[in-house]
Amino acid sequence: MQAKPPFPAVGGPKSQAMLERGIPLFRNGLRYAQELERSHQRGYRSPRQIIIGRAEGDFIWDLDGKRYIDFQNGWATNPVGNCHPEVIEAVEAANRTWGFHYDHPLRYELAEQLAEIMPGPLPRFSYEVSGTEAAEAAVHTALAYTQRRHVITFASCYHGMGLGTKVLSALDPDYGRYLEAWSGGVIKAPYPFSDHIPAGMDQEQYVDFCLWFLDHHIPAAVTTRDNIAAIMIEPGLAEGGNWIPTPRFIQGVREICDRNGWLLIVDEVLTGLGRTGRMWGIEHYDVEPDILVVGKNLSGGIAPCAGIAARDEILGDNPHAWSGSTFAGTPAGCAAGLKTLELFERDGVVAQAAHLGAVAAEVMADWESRHPIVRQVRSNGLLMGVSIQDPEGQAGRDEDTVWFAREVRSQLLARGVWAISDREENIRMYPSLTMDEAVLREGLQHLEEAIAHVEANGLTVKDAPDLPTGL
Ligand SMILES: Cc1ncc(COP(=O)(O)O)c(C=O)c1O
Repeated sequence: MQAKPPFPAVGGPKSQAMLERGIPLFRNGLRYAQELERSHQRGYRSPRQIIIGRAEGDFIWDLDGKRYIDFQNGWATNPVGNCHPEVIEAVEAANRTWGFHYDHPLRYELAEQLAEIMPGPLPRFSYEVSGTEAAEAAVHTALAYTQRRHVITFASCYHGMGLGTKVLSALDPDYGRYLEAWSGGVIKAPYPFSDHIPAGMDQEQYVDFCLWFLDHHIPAAVTTRDNIAAIMIEPGLAEGGNWIPTPRFIQGVREICDRNGWLLIVDEVLTGLGRTGRMWGIEHYDVEPDILVVGKNLSGGIAPCAGIAARDEILGDNPHAWSGSTFAGTPAGCAAGLKTLELFERDGVVAQAAHLGAVAAEVMADWESRHPIVRQVRSNGLLMGVSIQDPEGQAGRDEDTVWFAREVRSQLLARGVWAISDREENIRMYPSLTMDEAVLREGLQHLEEAIAHVEANGLTVKDAPDLPTGL
């Protein structure tokens, strides 16, 4: 018999009933009852979960009709809010006109427009469906162009969940378990922004160490300089904990690439197209990449569209850089991208994101000093995160830290705000770039209330399992 969660999911019986349908369908459903029983016996209760019944603008509604402020934003994919009617209309018109045919004019128009807004001369574009595919295409393009075999990525980076991107990423070593033999060409370097700076080093010294590791340790101990094709980096770790790098580090990476003849691939799948209050995250660093990876926001929240932009010679004369797939650059995806760029221009969306980011930074400015469980507020524009710590402050107890963040997220949901905390130490928030300022402030106010509640009441959920949803 399946054990019943002792508390209904937030929003009520319809969400609950739908979530239970996942037990026989999705991954880890067979373990669910046993894990639930174990956590009940230790006094913990089920985390709050909902199923979305409808989404519109700044909000989502669960199946039982309760409304939530949307800080999750389809994992940061709805730049102009949920179900923007003009993007929907553009996508539907493209579907009616072309279906899935490949040789349509929108792919030319969108590639031309993207070339105009790139952070540097990156005139060539290759379409992909997802950020995962695009990140993999960027790496293969770099290997094929340089005719080299290694690429450098960073600790805590996330580039996707494909076979290639799993071995490129370093978010959680468990994601790549049993793929160890597939990761031969990837060199993982330390990332200087972390809760785990080695003993005795201050932040600036650790930046120096990480640059030294790239420039000296890898060529001296791992592979020769002329066998490294590229460094791939996110200008702001999102999944890896909203760490915002300093200009000195990113400029240092660019300088090392230039001096060694390595390409710089910038993965802007999450940071790109306005998320940080600039069109591209890399614009905060006064650095031009050689290849840029784009996804998420390009979809306008409606139809997937992703790809890579590259310097002329890198994609313009590279016969071995194969990529693309059946649904890459569909008429619907390109229509979504074109309409999104049109709305960005017409409605001043990037400037609005910068303004909202400044509002949020001001609201959260004193949280570190006022809340013992807030370790750091780490934001760049609307790439917003609050890292949570065990209030006892017991260094090195990462597990407990994760449970505190999970508790805050659960309390936040109970207060009508939908945000991300994915078994991590952070609450991450990626509202739409056009969110109403009052709604943004209200959501942050609820976050502060949730934080205060957890400080006063401690853990109630801990490791109680989520009902399986297929993730
Ligand atoms: C920086 C970065 N790269 C790549 C990806 C993968 O994109 P997708 O999930 O669209 O495949 C993500 C997804 O979160 C991401 O944040």
